Amino acid sequence: MKPKLEYINSQLKNIRKNNLYRKMYDSKITGPYITINSKTLINLCSNDYLGITQPKISNKQNQSSSRLVAGNDNSFRILEEKLAKHKSQERSLIFPTGYMANLGVISSLIGKNDLVLSDKLNHASLIEACKLCNAKLSIFKHNNMSDLIHKIKTKARRKFIITEGIFSMDGDFSNLNTISEISEKNNAIIILDDAHGDFVVGNDGKGTANYFGVSKKIDVYISSLSKGLGSFGGYVSSRKSIIELCINKSKSFIYTSALPRLLIDDATKRFESNREKNRKKLWKNVKKFSAGLKKIGFNVNSNSHIFPIIIGKEKAAIEFGEYLFKNGIFAQPIRYPTVSRNHARIRISITARLTDDHITKSLSVLESAKRKFHLI
Ligand SMILES: Cc1ncc(COP(=O)(O)O)c(C=O)c1O
Repeated sequence: MKPKLEYINSQLKNIRKNNLYRKMYDSKITGPYITINSKTLINLCSNDYLGITQPKISNKQNQSSSRLVAGNDNSFRILEEKLAKHKSQERSLIFPTGYMANLGVISSLIGKNDLVLSDKLNHASLIEACKLCNAKLSIFKHNNMSDLIHKIKTKARRKFIITEGIFSMDGDFSNLNTISEISEKNNAIIILDDAHGDFVVGNDGKGTANYFGVSKKIDVYISSLSKGLGSFGGYVSSRKSIIELCINKSKSFIYTSALPRLLIDDATKRFESNREKNRKKLWKNVKKFSAGLKKIGFNVNSNSHIFPIIIGKEKAAIEFGEYLFKNGIFAQPIRYPTVSRNHARIRISITARLTDDHITKSLSVLESAKRKFHLI
């Protein structure tokens, strides 16, 4: 008989062999820096896009229960009302994470005889959520509207289009204008995961749909509090009835403990801070970095704060990342299955915390890395 746990080591060996092994660094983040093994680097890996300064919060007792049992502190209601207003929706509901919001909301709204049209590059949490629905799943080519038009013709009880606002690993915007038109013609429901656009783009940081002027066409907004806001948690904003259904059906809401009040207060304080000041700084930095990247010959297809430097092979991306690390820059290689095989990349995210000097230094290291690795 084979030892019963042998398969674990063999799976790990395989992951290593394919250059897909992931490891966690012991790290400490201080402002724009990250310290790993006593080495301090410029952090180009943070999703804390606005870099809002840590607000002071009181240490109230935690609920330690599901919100439906004994954990519905009024701090939730206060933040949910603010988030609903932020999205011009009737109600919001906070989940422990954005990942759990996607699982809970999507599996509550979509059922067996429905058709889900999901962008090929949608985040893993959306993919997992779609699997939970038992619906007919149709993946359309990334941002390809003719493919969407073709695939939406399939007969179904109800049709749903699911897309991200700004794609997390590519930094490009979803084609929300056309998606809105297609949904209208086909009576389809749009679910928008705007984890990377929320608080970052649009008027007053209202997100990608606002940026495109199609806010009213979106049926369900899902987002994270852990990116633009730099806090923790996930939420959904929509009409009252949809939120009510989520409260009643979302397993990732019903059967888990509520977030600690400490985190809700933290998110509320950040929400109320002068976000506009940080947003302005972020976009100033993005402009500077983007222009610099072009100048040194990187042809990066992004008009957001997320810049994918496509390397290709997994091993090459690891080496590129290691070179950046040695030279004081922290930017992780992103590999399969987060992106497709041979499309490994260095994902750079620009934040408001970076100074002009950080950007100049980062560009200079990237330029020398480009030369060393013969990137075109
Ligand atoms: C598009 C997208 N949706 C959802 C999530 C999950 O958000 P959270 O980190 O709050 O679980 C992420 C996180 O990376 C994401 O990129």
